[in-house]
Amino acid sequence: MNFKSLTGSIAGIMLICAATVSAADIIPLPASVTKGKSSYTFPKETTYMVPAYEGDSIANLFTIMLPELEKATGANIRKTDANSDISLMLDMSVPPEGYNLNVSPAGVVISASRPAGFFYGLQTLRQMLPVVAASPATVEEVTITDSPRFGWRGFMLDEGRHIFGKDEVKRVLDMMALYKMNRLHWHLTEDQGWRIEIKKYPKLTDVGAKRKSTSLGWGSFNTDTVPYYGFYTQDDIKEIVAYAKDRFIEVVPEIDIPGHTQAAVAAYPEILACDPENTHEVWIMQGVSRDVMNVSNPAAVQFAKDIIDELIPLFPYGYIHLGGDECPTDKWEKNDACIAQLDSIGSTNFRDLQLNFYKELVNHIAAKPKDEQRKLIFWNEVLHGNTDMLPKDMTIMAWVGADKAAKEAATRGLTTILTPQIPYYINRKQSPLAGEPLTQGWGTETLEAVYNYVPMKDIPAELADKYMGVQANFWSEYVIAPELLEYLMLPRLLAVAEAGWTPQNERNYEDFHKRLRTHEDIFQANDWNYARHAFAKEICKKCLEKKTK
Ligand code: ACM
Repeated sequence: MNFKSLTGSIAGIMLICAATVSAADIIPLPASVTKGKSSYTFPKETTYMVPAYEGDSIANLFTIMLPELEKATGANIRKTDANSDISLMLDMSVPPEGYNLNVSPAGVVISASRPAGFFYGLQTLRQMLPVVAASPATVEEVTITDSPRFGWRGFMLDEGRHIFGKDEVKRVLDMMALYKMNRLHWHLTEDQGWRIEIKKYPKLTDVGAKRKSTSLGWGSFNTDTVPYYGFYTQDDIKEIVAYAKDRFIEVVPEIDIPGHTQAAVAAYPEILACDPENTHEVWIMQGVSRDVMNVSNPAAVQFAKDIIDELIPLFPYGYIHLGGDECPTDKWEKNDACIAQLDSIGSTNFRDLQLNFYKELVNHIAAKPKDEQRKLIFWNEVLHGNTDMLPKDMTIMAWVGADKAAKEAATRGLTTILTPQIPYYINRKQSPLAGEPLTQGWGTETLEAVYNYVPMKDIPAELADKYMGVQANFWSEYVIAPELLEYLMLPRLLAVAEAGWTPQNERNYEDFHKRLRTHEDIFQANDWNYARHAFAKEICKKCLEKKTK
C-alpha cells in the first residue's frame, strides 16, 4: 500500500493541547454567531447544572461527556444546584436538535428543548476548547443560535468487503459526533463477506464471514492468496449501538438482499441459491455478483424474515435498510419457480420479483407489535419495479443518478435521502496526486467537489418535505486498513456534515476551507489520520494544480 507519503507519521506530529477552534471556525457552520470582546476562563473547580428531563436523560448525557470536558477545560467538573459555571437550561422554543450557546464572563449557558440539542451545544463548546488543556481553558465571549437543515445527516460504512473492528467503528462515531452527524448506516453484508452474527443461521458467519483471498485491484483478476475472516457478534453490535446512542447517533443496519448476497448463498445454497446443484463460494472478486438469492423459494423468504426478527431488538430505531441495489435478474430469468411466480403476480418485469419479496417482508414486519415495527430503506434501483406494491412509508436512498432518482421517489410520494455516488462516495480518491491509495473505481472526488454538491437543487417546493437529508458513503473494496479509511474520510466527512446542517445559502467553499484549517489540530490531537494536502494554504484546487504540474 502506497499511501504513507500522503499521510505522514501521525505520532511524530501529534499535538497535545493546541486544538482550539475560534467560534468563527466552527464546522458545521452555525446559523448565527455573534462574538463579544470578552472571554470566560474555567475555574480549576468548575460546576455544572442540568435541568430535569425525562428521567435523568440530560444529566446522563452530561455525565457521559464529563471526562472529555474535564480534559478540554483542564478543570475538575462537578454538579451543583445553583450558580454554576456551565448551565444547561430547558427552553422549549428551541427546535428539537437545535441549541443556543452563550459564553460570557459569567459562564457558559446552553439552552435546548431536547437532549440532542444539549449534546450539539456541547459539541460546539468542545470545538472551541482544546482537546487537552494544559491549564484551565479560556473560551471567547459568543452567542450562537443553531439548528440543523436536515434530520438525516448520515455516514455509511461498508464492512462487508473489509471489516475494521469495534475500536475503529467507535473512532468513526467520535468523528461523526463532533461534526453533528446522526446516522451510522452500517452495511454489514456483501458478496465478499457476511459480518453480523445471526443465531438462527450460524453458517452465515462460520462460512459467509470467510473468503479464501482478496482481489488486488480494480478490474484485476490477481488476488493476495491470504484468507480473510471477521464478523461482529451480537454482543459487539449491542456495544456499538450503545456507544453510538450516547453520541446521539442512530445505527441503521443494512442487510443487502436479494443481490450482493453471494456470501449468504455460499453459506446456505440449499435455501438461497437459484442453482443449488452448483458450487457457491464467498466471492473474491469485486463488482456485482450474479449469484443472488432465489426470491421465489419460501425458505429464502423465511430466512429474510428470521434475520429481520434478530435485527429488530439489536437496532432499536425506526429504520432497517434492505439494500436492493445492483441485483442482476439473469438467474431468475432461467429459473422455473421464478418465472411462475412472476406470472402469478401479473408482471413481466423481473424486478417486480424483488419488490414482491420485499412485500412479504413488509407484511411480516406490519404484523408485529407497534414498538417492533420498522420502516424500510432501499437503494434507488427499487424504483425500477412497481413500487405501488409497497407502502408509501418506505425511503429511497438515491445514489446512482441521485438527483433524478430522489425526485422520482419524492414524486411517487416516498421519502428520500441524497447520497450521490458523485461526489458523496468518499472512498474514492480525494486528489489527483501521485501516491493516492487504490480505492474503488478510478474517480476522484476532491474536497471541493464534495463540498460543492448542492442537495435538493431545483426541487419544487411541494416535494421538499420528502427530502430527509444527506449521507456520505464509504465502500471498502480496496480499503484494507483503518488508517486508510480515516485518510479517505477526512476531511471530506466534514463537507458532508456541513451540507446536512447548514442552509445552502450560508455555504461557501472558500469560507469552509478557511475554517477547516484550525480543525487539523483537532484531527492530530485525536490521532485521526487525514489527507494533509487538503490543508494547504491556498484553496485546495489551486494547490493541487500547482503540485501536479
Ligand atoms: C451502491 O453503490 N451499489 C449503492
